Amino acid sequence: MSLLLGVNIDHVATLRQARYALLPDSPNAEPSVVEAAKEAKAGGADSITVHVRGDRRHMQDADALRVKEECDLPLNLELGITEEMMDLAFQLKPDFACLVPETREEVTTEGGLDVVALFGTAREAVKRLKDAGIKVSLFIDPLVEHVEESARMGADMIELHTGAFANAEDTSQEIARLVAAAELGHSLGLQVNAGHGINYLNLPVLLQVPHLAELNIGHSIVSRAMTVGMRQAVAEMAEGMKGYGA
Ligand code: PXP
Repeated sequence: MSLLLGVNIDHVATLRQARYALLPDSPNAEPSVVEAAKEAKAGGADSITVHVRGDRRHMQDADALRVKEECDLPLNLELGITEEMMDLAFQLKPDFACLVPETREEVTTEGGLDVVALFGTAREAVKRLKDAGIKVSLFIDPLVEHVEESARMGADMIELHTGAFANAEDTSQEIARLVAAAELGHSLGLQVNAGHGINYLNLPVLLQVPHLAELNIGHSIVSRAMTVGMRQAVAEMAEGMKGYGA
């Protein structure tokens, strides 16, 4: 099976909010997240990811609802485990929900969800989302016990946090951790995805990790889209992913 590309378009909304946060209904509120999603699809994206954060710093609830309605691709909602976000998930009914840790101070999601410490809370959230017909992913650090707990609590997928890999000068140790976590996750029947900090340069190195089903990539693609457009930026990333596992 080929490696799928999920495009995270949060930072399209970050740019819009920089000018239009106080004028959400302006007919000129640009750039449009729906257009970005459609262009990502045209470039070869397999799914769209949006993270509606508690502080609504980029994606708004209405953005998620419009992307779901107007872009014909599977939608992955990233959410922190709060009642407010669970309610949004039940209303939105995304194809996938990815549970992530969220603190207000962080610039972007910094670490994986501590599924060991949060076992009860996370297990309940997984169950409620699955009962609503939504496939559930857990965004975790590549740690043996976190992979095992994810399987134990009934998640469908794990998304391995690749931030430490992306930040490392010498990536060999981080690659080894990702390989071990991917092998374990796969052996436990979990779909294994990966995301955070993946870019055009580090992608070939990451592709050494086996059993990957989908990569979720945001910042790098949105940045490249500034110069070549979203369609082309996505197509270039998809091209780099071709041949995975061959
Ligand atoms: N996956 C998850 C769970 C995320 O929270 C994010 C954004 O922080 C990404 C993937 C995409 O990361 P990036 O924007 O660095 O590509």
